[in-house]
Amino acid sequence: MRHYLPGRHGCLAAGFDAVEQILGRSPAAVLDLGGGVGTTAEAALRRWPAAQVAVLDADPVLLFLARAGLPASMSVLPADLSTAAWRATTSGRYDVVLVVMTLHFLPADRARELYAEIRTVLNPGGVLLMADTVPALGGPARRDDCDLSAPWSRWWSDAAGEPALREPLRSRAQAMAGMTSAEFVGGLDWHRVAALDGGFRCCRTVWRRGDHAMLAMHDTSAR
Ligand SMILES: C[S@@+](CC[C@H](N)C(=O)[O-])C[C@H]1O[C@@H](n2cnc3c(N)ncnc32)[C@H](O)[C@@H]1O
Repeated sequence: MRHYLPGRHGCLAAGFDAVEQILGRSPAAVLDLGGGVGTTAEAALRRWPAAQVAVLDADPVLLFLARAGLPASMSVLPADLSTAAWRATTSGRYDVVLVVMTLHFLPADRARELYAEIRTVLNPGGVLLMADTVPALGGPARRDDCDLSAPWSRWWSDAAGEPALREPLRSRAQAMAGMTSAEFVGGLDWHRVAALDGGFRCCRTVWRRGDHAMLAMHDTSAR
């Protein structure tokens, strides 16, 4: 993921700093949407060791690896963000929801709905951290993740040769047939409007590198 989000470590650190600034404390419960194998969620747990951290994803292979590799204290939730039904797999409310390099998989209308849905699973004063391609000015940038020699494609080729993944790969072929990334890119203004429409009162950039940005959406002003 470092290939797709250059400066990823600094991005997450800036987002986590913003969470502590906004909440005025460490979060007790964190949900990572489209969390894949859970590397972002693990970074959250390293930062906040006492937090309950959950990873949600739709991909059977990534869920298999998350269950195998993450600490037992973390929950792994199978769900599809394409409809509001994902909320049924979550339990309670969260102080932080993470959506890192995942929103672009959804079409714009669905991404807008997701913001409103996320707000309903946040505790009062909770924070949504969203990182993706978010051009600051002008029209949408083109996403360029389709290079077949890129790490994500190579990763899947390697996975295909791994015997332990044969069954999860079969499930993936069924569960994700026809599911493709929308490659959606919204500018900063798009995200601001969608966040306000979704019920958040603030949407601010807490990190930027080129066209990639981390946005924090929340209700209260920073302390
Ligand atoms: C580029 S990866 C990012 C993974 C992780 N957030 C990170 O930063 O390392 C995008 C993730 O979104 C997940 N995803 C895409 N569409 C989804 C959907 N409709 N429902 C749930 N997860 C989805 C993929 O399975 C994948 O794990």
